[in-house]
Amino acid sequence: MNSQKLTSLLNEMTLDEKIAQLLQLATPFFEGSKDEGQITGPLASMNISDENIINTGSVLGASGGAKEAINIQKAHLKKNRLGIPLLFMADVIHGYKTIFPVPLAIGCSWDLDKAQQSAEIAAKEAAVAGVHVTFSPMVDLVRDPRWGRVMESTGEDPFLNGEFAKAFVRGFQGKDLKHNTDSVAACVKHFAAYGAAEGGRDYNTVNMSERQLRESYLPAYKAALDEGCEMVMTAFNTVDGIPATGNVKLMRDLLREEWGFDGVLISDWGAVKEMIPHGVAEDEAEAAYKAIQAGVDIEMMTSCYVDHLKKQVESGKVEEKLIDESVMRILTLKDKLGLFENPFRGADEALENELVMSEDHRQAARELAVKSSVLLKNNGVLPINREKKIALVGPFAQSGDVLGPWSFLGSKEKAVQLYDGLLAKMNSSLLLTAAKGCEIETGTEEQLAEAVKAAKEADLIVLALGEASEMSGEAGCRADIRLPQIQLELAAKMKELDKPIVAVLFNGRPLDLHGIWEESDAILEAWYPGTEGGNAIGDILFGDANPSGKLAMSFPHSVGQVPVYYNHFNTGRPQGAPDAQERYVSQYLDIPNEPLLPFGYGLSYTSFAYSNETLSDVTMTATKPLTVSVEVQNSGSMAGEEIVQLYIRDISGEVVRPMKELKSFKKLSLQPGEKATVEFEITEEMLRYHHADLSFKSDIGKFIAFVGPNSRDTVEMAFELVNE
Ligand code: GLC
Repeated sequence: MNSQKLTSLLNEMTLDEKIAQLLQLATPFFEGSKDEGQITGPLASMNISDENIINTGSVLGASGGAKEAINIQKAHLKKNRLGIPLLFMADVIHGYKTIFPVPLAIGCSWDLDKAQQSAEIAAKEAAVAGVHVTFSPMVDLVRDPRWGRVMESTGEDPFLNGEFAKAFVRGFQGKDLKHNTDSVAACVKHFAAYGAAEGGRDYNTVNMSERQLRESYLPAYKAALDEGCEMVMTAFNTVDGIPATGNVKLMRDLLREEWGFDGVLISDWGAVKEMIPHGVAEDEAEAAYKAIQAGVDIEMMTSCYVDHLKKQVESGKVEEKLIDESVMRILTLKDKLGLFENPFRGADEALENELVMSEDHRQAARELAVKSSVLLKNNGVLPINREKKIALVGPFAQSGDVLGPWSFLGSKEKAVQLYDGLLAKMNSSLLLTAAKGCEIETGTEEQLAEAVKAAKEADLIVLALGEASEMSGEAGCRADIRLPQIQLELAAKMKELDKPIVAVLFNGRPLDLHGIWEESDAILEAWYPGTEGGNAIGDILFGDANPSGKLAMSFPHSVGQVPVYYNHFNTGRPQGAPDAQERYVSQYLDIPNEPLLPFGYGLSYTSFAYSNETLSDVTMTATKPLTVSVEVQNSGSMAGEEIVQLYIRDISGEVVRPMKELKSFKKLSLQPGEKATVEFEITEEMLRYHHADLSFKSDIGKFIAFVGPNSRDTVEMAFELVNE
């Protein structure tokens, strides 16, 4: 439908119909849904008229597959006066039915192609089930592992997050939303800086300067939008004292005016009405007013708009033009998705059964789970000899809880458990004994005794420990980020048996590894590896795959260190400075400043030797970039992948500058003995930053380039940016 037709459609709509187009409701409100009429819990407080339901613009969370989506759309179109189709939106975060590793794990793969592929597959499975829009990618920068939603982000670095944001948008949306009905529109979230909630407590206050917001937190959202992301979702938190959902400066001035975003802006669940408890709206009428003034097009799951905007338009408080603009953005998105030509788009029950959880999709999930796992420690006990007798101990030994949060469309029953993944690799089940040892947070003497017995009879212990997925994800915040005490006691008991211990961790956040770090001879961070998790871990533990993941988020020494991240400032009293005093420096009395494991860290079964780090010159200009080159050799005996990283430090800026900033990376695959020369170009654009007046530019002066396998173990080379 061209824009004239959309405009004429808009002009036919009554004010009631326009305002209802701005409403998004969950499926129980809709005829034809599998949970039709189940208006319970938070839905029960919503008093939505039949008229408004008939005119609602979009559906939240359709999870009943193609049949349900078709039924809902058919019933809706019979009743909607102008035949305006519904938009179906859902949280397809790391897979639809085939569940991939959680995004924080994918961030550790540093594999943009595999990340894009995971989004393509998720889109295919979602689109064939009738989904039009996914509330993904979540690109919130995270520095506080107490926050439950760090699992949903790709980590602590603005550049890496931006690269993954673009890859996910490419994967979800493809190149032609209208004609490729196996793609879905993406919705970048949560705008903005939701990951900076104080204390790592969900929904909590975010306080930061506009300069830090622009420097560290906004780049990844911008990257998603530059890649063509169709939608933006508001964050629950305040930004500089104003909730994002009613923040005109953030949404109108920056997002729409400065960045030129003219797509659909949706509130997060209930975030319009939450302006009341935030304390910037006395009632729902004021909440509605502030949200529409901020340019929020769709109100998710509250009814402030449909209950109050009509009166505000009729009284002249709100210009009808604002409503028209929002409706037009929604109609335009529906048109981009081809819904006016085909309101059922890709929904296809027959194809759905064939496509969803297909072998190809599972294989892709398995490969990405291998690449997302991070080998944190290995005293040589890995890979495991297949002839060894293994005791598989711990609450994750035989658990389907490997999908992680935001995977309710997946199936824990169909997920490959660790036991099954290991058994598939072994020559006899007599060599593998599983014994839980304890639950996630509780345990019995009998469970412990069973585990001790199994371990005593084994050559090696695989300890499968972690957090239940409810201990992570939205509202899954923890002040103590160690493994649950009962699991640490199990580990200590196993340690007493004086046998090799391989720990496999299933968790959604960087943990305080006290109680498992010293006790284990090897530690594999598996995160929540998804549907094929057991197989992927089996691939790694037996050496059929060589781990290559690198941490996208620092592992703190303890929670007392948080927030701890690699791209920190130096302070005026850094530890270890030449003239540093013993006491009066920035330090703790009881723990080190450095994290236990830094950003970019990850081991391999082979080793990589770096040599001949060189710069093409010691000065550069805006038109004469530099080239950093380094030789990397696989100096071990097993083929492997290495992620070579380039960081830059600005020695002296108008404002303080981070000790290091990731500017590029390259992933190499090398056979034993093979050597490759890696080159990075350093451009003047890489040296730009937000100055005190928020201007984004570089300064002439001294810099250091760092190259290496992680953000800590690097070789540095000085250079200077000079005028032409
Ligand atoms: C939730 C989340 C958001 C999600 C939305 C719809 O509260 O904050 O990420 O997309 O509601 O489920």
